[in-house]
Amino acid sequence: MKNDEDLPDNVDWIEVAGKEKLATKNYVPGNSVYGEHLQKSSTHEFRIWDPYRSKLAACIINGMKNIPFTSGSTILYLGSSTGTTPSHVSDIVGKDGLLFCVEISSRVARDFIDNVVSFRNNIIPIIADAHNIDSYTSIFRNIDSVYCDISQPDQTDIAISNCKEFLSSGSKLLLVIKSRSIDTTKSPKSIYEQEMTKLESSGFDIDQMIDLHPFDKDHALIMATMR
Ligand SMILES: C[S@@+](CC[C@H](N)C(=O)[O-])C[C@H]1O[C@@H](n2cnc3c(N)ncnc32)[C@H](O)[C@@H]1O
Repeated sequence: MKNDEDLPDNVDWIEVAGKEKLATKNYVPGNSVYGEHLQKSSTHEFRIWDPYRSKLAACIINGMKNIPFTSGSTILYLGSSTGTTPSHVSDIVGKDGLLFCVEISSRVARDFIDNVVSFRNNIIPIIADAHNIDSYTSIFRNIDSVYCDISQPDQTDIAISNCKEFLSSGSKLLLVIKSRSIDTTKSPKSIYEQEMTKLESSGFDIDQMIDLHPFDKDHALIMATMR
């Protein structure tokens, strides 16, 4: 039996055609972002959260607990792409929360702004390279947590430098590791171990590491706390 208490705010299990599906309460009722099914209950409209499209959904389904995103959280999201996962995080943080979303590709960011940001007043897009922290001039609130999903060889280093700049001690990093972006010759498991060691030697304690199989091949999501 799945336990609702382990889920972030505004996330629930919804029955669709006799099957339990992960879903978020739609912050913009009537609005579907990537063709996901919308389902109404007596009190809310939910958006089905597809674990094959969103690594955060995959890691929740695979058992990650105590994700630090809550109603009202302020999150720095690195690698927003066209906004699939950011749209669900926007549902989670709701009207009192805020997402600062960094994306390097202006073409991708334009789609994100047109299809997602323009409907959601709790997302601030930042078109920037996540290496260039000094260029994020629009961050005006304290950041509670960092989410990093940028599929680059130095993804862990980028996450660490953003956390050191924006997080305080005890705050959490959620880091997606795509092992093939780092080294195709090593096993994914050894890459996950290597990146966790790097985090530990850079001032983080590892809370959980979740392999995203079968939703994503050779990917894991690490949750860590900054010391
Ligand atoms: C795997 S996709 C992100 C998917 C998205 N997080 C989701 O779940 O919906 C990775 C994104 O990171 C962006 N990216 C890569 N390097 C980056 C960098 N140095 N700074 C900012 N964004 C970067 C890419 O352009 C791409 O859109």
